[in-house]
Amino acid sequence: MAVSTETLRTVSDMIYHRLGIVADKSNMRLLASKVDLFLLRNNLTEQDLLRRLKDQRFFEDFISVITVNETYFFREKEHISLLPKLIKRERLLKARILSIPCSTGEEPLSIVMELLESMGSTFRFDVVGVDVDKRAIDIARKGIYSRRSVMRVPPALLRKYFEEYNGAYKVKTELKLKVKYYVGNVFDVSFLKSLGIFDFIFCRNLLIYFDTKKRTEALNNLAQIHKSGGYLFISKTETLLGLVVPYKREVMDGVIVYKRV
Ligand SMILES: C[S@@+](CC[C@H](N)C(=O)[O-])C[C@H]1O[C@@H](n2cnc3c(N)ncnc32)[C@H](O)[C@@H]1O
Repeated sequence: MAVSTETLRTVSDMIYHRLGIVADKSNMRLLASKVDLFLLRNNLTEQDLLRRLKDQRFFEDFISVITVNETYFFREKEHISLLPKLIKRERLLKARILSIPCSTGEEPLSIVMELLESMGSTFRFDVVGVDVDKRAIDIARKGIYSRRSVMRVPPALLRKYFEEYNGAYKVKTELKLKVKYYVGNVFDVSFLKSLGIFDFIFCRNLLIYFDTKKRTEALNNLAQIHKSGGYLFISKTETLLGLVVPYKREVMDGVIVYKRV
């Protein structure tokens, strides 16, 4: 089976409109094969799919077909290591940190481990993880990770915060309870506002899927829940260059960070 060009165009428009993810020529083929597989697995026709995608619940299930959840513990560790240094430099007595998108939870859990290890157990902080993909959040809430996922966790931290579980690694409850997870979209401003205000926002490996318009929109949405003077971390492969957003570039320890102005 090969999904028709018209159906594919309708689906990719819908994805762009709701999630901001751009399906251009380079990834259209991949999208086509993902849609084909989804139709086959769910025994649906193209017409069924187009009709049912209008239903919000169905669309939420479909999201995991198109999202790329690639992540692992301590990915781009230089940002995570910078966090306690910034907290100390800014003399913060407590901190709220948002990880959006958090995918299956490795990023927010890495942040918690870093803070527990470097700030001591008395430092008060909140870590919130958000992803639009419900399936990813379900995995995050279970807290069971593959060997590949934990490959960058230092052995001492692996022993301290994880237990072996059927050949995988289960996050110990004390660590798991430190992150609150939500299914949510970076384009849903009222949802974002319901989370409160944050000192630090990690928004890594999301902007790469967006065009300039959606990058600008997403960052202006996040700016609304970002404390003035707070810091934003994006991936090393991403840039805010050329975007009209309220963030100022700074370099600390050779790492680029963005300050909310
Ligand atoms: C590659 S992962 C990045 C995870 C983590 N931040 C990291 O750098 O390892 C990208 C995630 O973005 C999520 N995503 C895509 N569009 C989104 C949106 N509009 N709002 C929130 N999350 C979104 C996907 O579900 C996916 O889990």
